[in-house]
Amino acid sequence: GKGGYDHYMLKEIHEQPRALRQAISGRVDELATSVDLDIDLPEEYLQSVEEIQIIACGTSYHAGLYAAELLEAHAEVRTSVHVASEYEFNGGRDPWRTLVIAITQSGETADTLSALRTATRAGARTLALTNTLGSTVTREADDTVFIRAGPEIGVAATKTFVSQVATATLFSVYLAQVRNGISTKTATRLLESVRDLPGAVQQILDQEDIIKETAREYADSDAFFYIGRAVGYPVALESALKLKEISYDHAEGFPAGELKHGPLALVTSETPVIALLTDETRPKKTLNNVKEVKSRGAPVIGIASDPETTGHVDTTFDIPDCGAMEPVVGNVALQLFAYYVADEKGRPIDKPRNLAKSVTVE
Ligand code: F6R
Repeated sequence: GKGGYDHYMLKEIHEQPRALRQAISGRVDELATSVDLDIDLPEEYLQSVEEIQIIACGTSYHAGLYAAELLEAHAEVRTSVHVASEYEFNGGRDPWRTLVIAITQSGETADTLSALRTATRAGARTLALTNTLGSTVTREADDTVFIRAGPEIGVAATKTFVSQVATATLFSVYLAQVRNGISTKTATRLLESVRDLPGAVQQILDQEDIIKETAREYADSDAFFYIGRAVGYPVALESALKLKEISYDHAEGFPAGELKHGPLALVTSETPVIALLTDETRPKKTLNNVKEVKSRGAPVIGIASDPETTGHVDTTFDIPDCGAMEPVVGNVALQLFAYYVADEKGRPIDKPRNLAKSVTVE
Protein backbone atom coordinates (compact mmCIF):
# COMPACT_ATOMS: atom_id res chain seq x y z
CA GLY A 1 0.00 0.00 0.00
CA LYS A 2 0.85 3.66 0.16
CA GLY A 3 2.15 3.40 3.71
CA GLY A 4 0.01 6.26 4.97
CA TYR A 5 0.97 8.66 2.16
CA ASP A 6 -1.64 10.14 -0.19
CA HIS A 7 0.19 8.89 -3.27
CA TYR A 8 2.81 6.32 -4.19
CA MET A 9 4.90 9.16 -5.58
CA LEU A 10 5.14 10.81 -2.18
CA LYS A 11 5.90 7.47 -0.53
CA GLU A 12 8.64 6.82 -3.07
CA ILE A 13 10.10 10.30 -2.60
CA HIS A 14 10.37 9.49 1.10
CA GLU A 15 11.92 6.10 0.41
CA GLN A 16 14.95 7.69 -1.22
CA PRO A 17 17.36 7.60 1.72
CA ARG A 18 16.76 3.86 2.01
CA ALA A 19 16.87 3.28 -1.75
CA LEU A 20 20.21 5.09 -1.88
CA ARG A 21 21.64 3.13 1.02
CA GLN A 22 20.72 -0.06 -0.83
CA ALA A 23 22.39 1.22 -4.00
CA ILE A 24 25.63 1.87 -2.10
CA SER A 25 25.58 -1.06 0.32
CA GLY A 26 28.61 -3.33 0.02
CA ARG A 27 29.85 -1.47 -3.03
CA VAL A 28 32.14 1.15 -1.45
CA ASP A 29 34.93 0.15 0.93
CA GLU A 30 35.17 1.62 4.40
CA LEU A 31 37.83 4.21 3.53
CA ALA A 32 35.92 5.30 0.42
CA THR A 33 38.82 4.49 -1.84
CA SER A 34 37.42 1.79 -4.10
CA VAL A 35 34.23 0.42 -5.65
CA ASP A 36 33.02 -3.12 -6.24
CA LEU A 37 30.08 -3.42 -8.63
CA ASP A 38 30.59 -7.07 -9.56
CA ILE A 39 31.26 -6.14 -13.18
CA ASP A 40 31.83 -9.14 -15.45
CA LEU A 41 33.21 -7.20 -18.42
CA PRO A 42 36.98 -7.88 -18.31
CA GLU A 43 39.25 -5.09 -17.08
CA GLU A 44 41.44 -5.37 -20.20
CA TYR A 45 38.37 -4.72 -22.29
CA LEU A 46 37.33 -1.70 -20.17
CA GLN A 47 40.86 -0.33 -20.50
CA SER A 48 40.64 -0.59 -24.28
CA VAL A 49 37.28 1.19 -24.62
CA GLU A 50 37.63 4.35 -26.71
CA GLU A 51 34.09 5.59 -26.52
CA ILE A 52 30.92 5.17 -24.47
CA GLN A 53 27.45 5.63 -25.91
CA ILE A 54 24.55 5.86 -23.47
CA ILE A 55 21.03 5.02 -24.65
CA ALA A 56 17.90 5.75 -22.62
CA CYS A 57 14.51 7.50 -22.58
CA GLY A 58 12.84 10.10 -20.39
CA THR A 59 14.11 10.27 -16.84
CA SER A 60 16.70 7.57 -17.55
CA TYR A 61 18.03 9.77 -20.39
CA HIS A 62 18.52 12.57 -17.86
CA ALA A 63 20.43 10.17 -15.61
CA GLY A 64 22.50 9.35 -18.71
CA LEU A 65 23.34 13.02 -19.28
CA TYR A 66 24.43 13.27 -15.66
CA ALA A 67 26.53 10.10 -15.93
CA ALA A 68 28.21 11.32 -19.11
CA GLU A 69 29.57 14.41 -17.33
CA LEU A 70 31.18 12.16 -14.72
CA LEU A 71 32.52 9.63 -17.20
CA GLU A 72 34.14 12.32 -19.31
CA ALA A 73 35.58 14.16 -16.33
CA HIS A 74 36.90 11.19 -14.36
CA ALA A 75 37.17 8.11 -16.58
CA GLU A 76 38.45 10.33 -19.40
CA VAL A 77 36.46 8.55 -22.04
CA ARG A 78 34.50 10.30 -24.76
CA THR A 79 30.82 9.76 -23.96
CA SER A 80 27.70 10.57 -25.95
CA VAL A 81 24.13 10.28 -24.74
CA HIS A 82 21.30 9.31 -27.07
CA VAL A 83 17.55 9.37 -26.77
CA ALA A 84 17.03 5.68 -27.57
CA SER A 85 14.41 6.25 -30.27
CA GLU A 86 16.92 8.43 -32.18
CA TYR A 87 19.90 6.13 -31.77
CA GLU A 88 21.99 4.91 -34.69
CA PHE A 89 25.18 3.09 -33.96
CA ASN A 90 28.33 4.76 -35.19
CA GLY A 91 31.31 3.14 -33.56
CA GLY A 92 33.92 3.97 -36.18
CA ARG A 93 36.16 1.21 -37.53
CA ASP A 94 36.30 -0.79 -34.32
CA PRO A 95 32.82 -1.22 -32.80
CA TRP A 96 34.35 -3.53 -30.22
CA ARG A 97 36.00 -0.51 -28.58
CA THR A 98 32.64 1.19 -28.06
CA LEU A 99 30.81 0.35 -24.85
CA VAL A 100 27.06 0.96 -25.05
CA ILE A 101 25.29 1.52 -21.74
CA ALA A 102 21.50 1.14 -21.66
CA ILE A 103 19.87 2.91 -18.72
CA THR A 104 16.32 1.73 -18.07
CA GLN A 105 14.44 1.50 -14.79
CA SER A 106 11.95 -1.11 -16.03
CA GLY A 107 14.34 -2.96 -18.30
CA GLU A 108 11.41 -3.28 -20.72
CA THR A 109 11.26 0.03 -22.61
CA ALA A 110 10.85 -0.86 -26.29
CA ASP A 111 12.84 2.10 -27.64
CA THR A 112 15.78 1.30 -25.38
CA LEU A 113 15.73 -2.44 -26.16
CA SER A 114 15.58 -1.69 -29.87
CA ALA A 115 18.61 0.62 -29.62
CA LEU A 116 20.44 -2.01 -27.58
CA ARG A 117 19.82 -4.59 -30.31
CA THR A 118 21.16 -2.16 -32.91
CA ALA A 119 24.37 -1.79 -30.90
CA THR A 120 24.73 -5.53 -30.36
CA ARG A 121 24.24 -6.26 -34.06
CA ALA A 122 26.96 -3.73 -34.88
CA GLY A 123 29.41 -5.54 -32.62
CA ALA A 124 29.53 -3.24 -29.57
CA ARG A 125 29.64 -4.61 -26.06
CA THR A 126 26.76 -3.62 -23.84
CA LEU A 127 26.07 -2.92 -20.20
CA ALA A 128 22.61 -2.47 -18.65
CA LEU A 129 21.89 -0.19 -15.68
CA THR A 130 18.46 -1.22 -14.44
CA ASN A 131 16.21 -1.61 -11.42
CA THR A 132 14.46 -4.77 -12.48
CA LEU A 133 15.75 -8.28 -11.86
CA GLY A 134 15.00 -10.69 -14.68
CA SER A 135 13.93 -7.91 -17.06
CA THR A 136 14.54 -8.21 -20.80
CA VAL A 137 17.50 -5.82 -20.74
CA THR A 138 19.34 -8.03 -18.23
CA ARG A 139 19.03 -10.99 -20.61
CA GLU A 140 20.13 -9.07 -23.69
CA ALA A 141 23.03 -6.94 -22.42
CA ASP A 142 26.50 -8.46 -21.92
CA ASP A 143 26.55 -7.32 -18.30
CA THR A 144 24.17 -5.68 -15.79
CA VAL A 145 24.51 -3.36 -12.81
CA PHE A 146 21.40 -3.07 -10.64
CA ILE A 147 20.40 0.24 -9.06
CA ARG A 148 18.52 -1.57 -6.23
CA ALA A 149 15.87 1.13 -5.69
CA GLY A 150 13.07 -1.34 -4.96
CA PRO A 151 9.74 -1.37 -6.84
CA GLU A 152 8.45 1.99 -8.10
CA ILE A 153 4.67 2.24 -8.60
CA GLY A 154 4.12 5.95 -9.30
CA VAL A 155 4.33 6.65 -13.03
CA ALA A 156 6.69 9.55 -12.37
CA ALA A 157 10.18 8.19 -11.71
CA THR A 158 11.70 9.59 -8.51
CA LYS A 159 13.73 7.23 -6.37
CA THR A 160 14.92 5.39 -9.45
CA PHE A 161 16.45 8.60 -10.87
CA VAL A 162 18.54 9.32 -7.78
CA SER A 163 19.54 5.66 -7.55
CA GLN A 164 20.54 5.68 -11.22
CA VAL A 165 22.73 8.73 -10.71
CA ALA A 166 24.30 7.36 -7.51
CA THR A 167 25.04 4.00 -9.16
CA ALA A 168 26.36 5.68 -12.30
CA THR A 169 28.68 7.75 -10.11
CA LEU A 170 30.02 4.55 -8.55
CA PHE A 171 30.49 3.09 -12.02
CA SER A 172 32.35 6.22 -13.18
CA VAL A 173 34.78 5.93 -10.28
CA TYR A 174 35.20 2.19 -10.93
CA LEU A 175 35.90 2.74 -14.62
CA ALA A 176 38.22 5.66 -13.90
CA GLN A 177 40.23 3.48 -11.52
CA VAL A 178 40.41 0.60 -14.00
CA ARG A 179 41.69 3.08 -16.58
CA ASN A 180 43.99 4.90 -14.14
CA GLY A 181 42.22 8.14 -14.84
CA ILE A 182 41.60 9.29 -11.28
CA SER A 183 43.58 10.16 -8.16
CA THR A 184 42.70 8.49 -4.86
CA LYS A 185 41.86 11.93 -3.54
CA THR A 186 39.25 12.58 -6.23
CA ALA A 187 37.84 9.05 -5.96
CA THR A 188 37.44 9.49 -2.21
CA ARG A 189 35.83 12.89 -2.64
CA LEU A 190 33.22 11.39 -4.99
CA LEU A 191 32.65 8.22 -2.98
CA GLU A 192 32.27 10.10 0.30
CA SER A 193 29.75 12.36 -1.37
CA VAL A 194 27.76 9.33 -2.57
CA ARG A 195 27.94 7.92 0.94
CA ASP A 196 26.66 11.20 2.39
CA LEU A 197 23.79 11.30 -0.06
CA PRO A 198 21.15 9.35 1.93
CA GLY A 199 21.64 11.64 4.94
CA ALA A 200 21.56 14.78 2.81
CA VAL A 201 18.37 13.63 1.10
CA GLN A 202 16.83 13.01 4.51
CA GLN A 203 17.67 16.61 5.48
CA ILE A 204 15.74 17.84 2.43
CA LEU A 205 12.77 15.63 3.26
CA ASP A 206 12.80 17.27 6.69
CA GLN A 207 12.25 20.63 4.94
CA GLU A 208 9.12 19.35 3.23
CA ASP A 209 6.86 21.98 4.80
CA ILE A 210 8.85 24.90 3.41
CA ILE A 211 8.86 23.36 -0.07
CA LYS A 212 5.14 22.62 0.15
CA GLU A 213 4.39 26.20 1.12
CA THR A 214 6.44 27.54 -1.79
CA ALA A 215 4.74 25.13 -4.20
CA ARG A 216 1.30 26.31 -3.07
CA GLU A 217 2.42 29.90 -3.58
CA TYR A 218 3.54 29.23 -7.17
CA ALA A 219 0.87 26.69 -8.14
CA ASP A 220 -1.23 29.08 -10.25
CA SER A 221 1.59 29.80 -12.70
CA ASP A 222 1.17 28.06 -16.05
CA ALA A 223 4.81 27.99 -17.14
CA PHE A 224 8.02 27.26 -15.27
CA PHE A 225 11.62 27.43 -16.44
CA TYR A 226 14.44 25.43 -14.89
CA ILE A 227 18.04 26.44 -15.51
CA GLY A 228 21.36 24.85 -14.63
CA ARG A 229 24.92 24.32 -15.83
CA ALA A 230 27.09 21.19 -15.96
CA VAL A 231 25.28 18.45 -13.99
CA GLY A 232 22.76 21.13 -12.98
CA TYR A 233 21.47 20.96 -16.57
CA PRO A 234 20.27 17.32 -16.50
CA VAL A 235 18.77 18.06 -13.08
CA ALA A 236 16.94 21.05 -14.61
CA LEU A 237 15.60 18.82 -17.41
CA GLU A 238 14.54 16.10 -15.00
CA SER A 239 12.88 18.49 -12.56
CA ALA A 240 10.96 20.15 -15.40
CA LEU A 241 9.85 16.77 -16.78
CA LYS A 242 8.52 15.83 -13.34
CA LEU A 243 6.50 19.02 -13.06
CA LYS A 244 5.01 18.74 -16.54
CA GLU A 245 4.08 15.07 -16.15
CA ILE A 246 2.12 15.42 -12.96
CA SER A 247 0.89 19.05 -12.91
CA TYR A 248 0.25 19.43 -16.70
CA ASP A 249 1.88 22.85 -16.52
CA HIS A 250 4.36 23.86 -19.16
CA ALA A 251 7.84 23.34 -17.79
CA GLU A 252 11.17 23.43 -19.63
CA GLY A 253 14.76 22.92 -18.61
CA PHE A 254 17.53 24.95 -20.25
CA PRO A 255 21.28 25.21 -19.93
CA ALA A 256 21.46 28.48 -17.97
CA GLY A 257 23.64 30.15 -20.61
CA GLU A 258 21.21 29.33 -23.43
CA LEU A 259 18.38 31.43 -22.00
CA LYS A 260 19.62 34.61 -23.59
CA HIS A 261 19.79 32.89 -27.00
CA GLY A 262 16.02 32.67 -27.31
CA PRO A 263 13.96 31.39 -24.39
CA LEU A 264 14.46 34.69 -22.53
CA ALA A 265 11.73 36.08 -24.82
CA LEU A 266 9.23 33.98 -22.83
CA VAL A 267 10.32 35.20 -19.41
CA THR A 268 7.91 37.56 -17.63
CA SER A 269 6.67 38.17 -14.10
CA GLU A 270 4.30 35.24 -14.74
CA THR A 271 7.03 32.66 -15.33
CA PRO A 272 8.84 31.41 -12.25
CA VAL A 273 12.46 30.42 -12.87
CA ILE A 274 14.07 27.67 -10.82
CA ALA A 275 17.86 27.95 -10.78
CA LEU A 276 20.29 25.18 -9.82
CA LEU A 277 23.02 26.95 -7.84
CA THR A 278 24.64 24.15 -5.84
CA ASP A 279 28.23 22.94 -5.96
CA GLU A 280 29.29 21.37 -9.27
CA THR A 281 26.92 23.57 -11.29
CA ARG A 282 29.04 26.73 -11.77
CA PRO A 283 26.69 28.77 -9.59
CA LYS A 284 28.52 32.09 -10.03
CA LYS A 285 27.97 32.01 -13.78
CA THR A 286 24.34 30.96 -13.37
CA LEU A 287 23.79 33.91 -11.03
CA ASN A 288 24.35 36.17 -14.06
CA ASN A 289 21.42 34.45 -15.73
CA VAL A 290 19.38 34.80 -12.55
CA LYS A 291 19.96 38.56 -12.77
CA GLU A 292 18.78 38.54 -16.40
CA VAL A 293 15.46 36.90 -15.53
CA LYS A 294 14.97 38.96 -12.38
CA SER A 295 15.30 42.15 -14.37
CA ARG A 296 12.36 40.88 -16.49
CA GLY A 297 10.37 40.49 -13.30
CA ALA A 298 10.48 36.70 -13.02
CA PRO A 299 10.28 35.27 -9.51
CA VAL A 300 13.29 33.01 -8.84
CA ILE A 301 13.65 29.93 -6.67
CA GLY A 302 17.29 29.12 -6.01
CA ILE A 303 18.50 25.61 -5.23
CA ALA A 304 21.62 26.46 -3.29
CA SER A 305 24.06 25.35 -0.65
CA ASP A 306 26.04 28.57 -0.29
CA PRO A 307 24.30 31.29 1.74
CA GLU A 308 25.94 33.93 -0.46
CA THR A 309 23.55 33.13 -3.28
CA THR A 310 20.47 33.66 -1.12
CA GLY A 311 20.49 37.42 -1.60
CA HIS A 312 19.96 37.06 -5.35
CA VAL A 313 16.82 34.91 -5.36
CA ASP A 314 13.30 35.23 -3.96
CA THR A 315 13.13 31.83 -2.29
CA THR A 316 15.89 29.36 -1.47
CA PHE A 317 15.71 25.62 -1.05
CA ASP A 318 18.73 25.05 1.18
CA ILE A 319 20.77 22.06 0.14
CA PRO A 320 23.03 20.60 2.85
CA ASP A 321 26.74 20.58 2.00
CA CYS A 322 27.48 17.19 0.52
CA GLY A 323 29.98 17.98 -2.19
CA ALA A 324 29.71 16.43 -5.60
CA MET A 325 26.20 15.01 -5.17
CA GLU A 326 24.51 18.28 -4.20
CA PRO A 327 22.64 18.60 -7.53
CA VAL A 328 20.98 15.23 -6.87
CA VAL A 329 19.77 16.48 -3.51
CA GLY A 330 18.46 19.54 -5.35
CA ASN A 331 16.46 17.22 -7.58
CA VAL A 332 14.79 15.71 -4.52
CA ALA A 333 13.69 19.17 -3.38
CA LEU A 334 12.24 19.73 -6.86
CA GLN A 335 10.42 16.38 -6.84
CA LEU A 336 8.62 17.63 -3.74
CA PHE A 337 7.99 20.97 -5.41
CA ALA A 338 6.43 19.25 -8.45
CA TYR A 339 4.40 16.97 -6.21
CA TYR A 340 2.87 19.82 -4.21
CA VAL A 341 2.14 21.96 -7.27
CA ALA A 342 0.27 19.00 -8.79
CA ASP A 343 -1.42 18.22 -5.48
CA GLU A 344 -2.62 21.81 -5.16
CA LYS A 345 -4.20 21.43 -8.61
CA GLY A 346 -5.83 18.14 -7.64
CA ARG A 347 -4.13 16.12 -10.38
CA PRO A 348 -4.16 12.28 -10.39
CA ILE A 349 -0.49 12.22 -9.42
CA ASP A 350 0.21 8.49 -9.57
CA LYS A 351 -1.45 8.00 -12.95
CA PRO A 352 -1.07 11.12 -15.08
CA ARG A 353 -3.21 11.22 -18.22
CA ASN A 354 -1.74 9.59 -21.35
CA LEU A 355 1.26 8.07 -19.55
CA ALA A 356 2.20 4.49 -18.64
CA LYS A 357 4.85 3.23 -16.24
CA SER A 358 6.48 1.01 -18.80
CA VAL A 359 6.39 1.96 -22.48
CA THR A 360 6.57 -1.27 -24.47
CA VAL A 361 5.80 0.15 -27.91
CA GLU A 362 8.09 2.08 -30.27
C1 F6R B 1 9.36 9.93 -16.25
C2 F6R B 1 9.26 8.55 -16.65
C3 F6R B 1 9.61 8.16 -18.06
C4 F6R B 1 10.60 7.00 -18.04
C5 F6R B 1 10.90 6.50 -19.45
C6 F6R B 1 11.96 5.41 -19.45
O1 F6R B 1 8.96 10.14 -14.95
O2 F6R B 1 8.96 7.72 -15.85
O3 F6R B 1 10.15 9.24 -18.76
O4 F6R B 1 11.76 7.44 -17.41
O5 F6R B 1 9.72 5.98 -20.02
O6 F6R B 1 11.60 4.31 -18.67
P1 F6R B 1 12.66 3.23 -18.24
O7 F6R B 1 13.65 3.87 -17.35
O8 F6R B 1 11.86 2.16 -17.56
O9 F6R B 1 13.31 2.72 -19.50
